Amino acid sequence: METKILSPMELKQAVEFLRDGELVAFPTETVYGLGADATNEAAVKKVYQAKGRPSDNPLIVTVSDVSMVETFAENIPADAKKLMDNFWPGPLTILLKVKPDTLPQVVTGGLDTVAFRNPDHQLTLDLISSLNRPIVGPSANTSTKPSPTSAQHVNHDLNGKIAAIIDGGMTSVGLESTIVDLTVSPYAILRPGEITAEAISRVLEKPVVGGNHVVSAGETPKAPGMKYRHYAPKNDVVIVDSDADFSKIPVNDNQVAVVSLQSVIDRIKPRHSFSLGQDVTSASHHLFEALRYFDEQENIKTIYVQGFSDGDLAEAYMNRLEKSAAGKHFG
Ligand code: TXA
Ligand code: MG
Repeated sequence: METKILSPMELKQAVEFLRDGELVAFPTETVYGLGADATNEAAVKKVYQAKGRPSDNPLIVTVSDVSMVETFAENIPADAKKLMDNFWPGPLTILLKVKPDTLPQVVTGGLDTVAFRNPDHQLTLDLISSLNRPIVGPSANTSTKPSPTSAQHVNHDLNGKIAAIIDGGMTSVGLESTIVDLTVSPYAILRPGEITAEAISRVLEKPVVGGNHVVSAGETPKAPGMKYRHYAPKNDVVIVDSDADFSKIPVNDNQVAVVSLQSVIDRIKPRHSFSLGQDVTSASHHLFEALRYFDEQENIKTIYVQGFSDGDLAEAYMNRLEKSAAGKHFG
């Protein structure tokens, strides 16, 4: 199959593909998603195939407005409406009880919950409202690869496997959405993102259990995706914590690369480097791009990546980085 790269002007063609049960990758403010008509079982099955994703790992349902949520969820608490009012469109995914028999089982992996997302990206909102149905939206990468933050990343992983990619340029946030579970008490963050537990708790005036939950062996994870290795490039990734001595990194080793703030690169002058910009916000924006960049460089064996401990995005950034590094820290 030929994968078409569509410009924003060619949105109509993307709607046609979705209507025909084909797969279309779409931009969001976080990372690119892989779309299929969420009500078309055969189309949704193709998503698992294209990504190489285990079928017990459910898919997010991407909606263009709150009325679509009402069609597919039941017992929606007033708190869900508050969060939608405050944070939608935006990088917050909300877990609710699914209305039985409204969505194919493959979407939810047989769970009785469904995750709703309303991305802050006009092209994609227009795509969904033109289709007049929600689309599933896992990240548009091959399973276990870093999530894609550009159309080129999607094309690298899925070329020949999907009908089209809508090119909306680089995504702005760069890390996937926060997932909050409103079907449990107290409410719980299943995946940290730009919208923090504190921000949600402030809006609801209720406690919210924070993220970075590590799933232990034998435990049935709340978000099935948490049990799979994620964001894993081919090279060894090592985290350099903010209090570590950067000058001890073997920067002259030809097989070593450093991914860090520009100020650190200027100071330690590594032979191979990728700049994360000036703060944790730009670092989040560039993290997956950096990991993918060195994944393509056969000579690089170890990537040292700067860690962060302060700022709203630090928890989400470290959550993704810990998974790529499988727990390895420098020093
Ligand atoms: O920012 C994002 O959320 C991106 C963009 C494309 O919207 N999407 C994304 O989807 O990150 P995905 O599939 O890569 O990650 C969604 C996570 C998975 O770990 C999955 O297990 C979990 O959400 N999930 C989906 N439905 C769930 C459910 N009903 N219960 C628990 N976890 C669920
Ligand atoms: Mg993903």
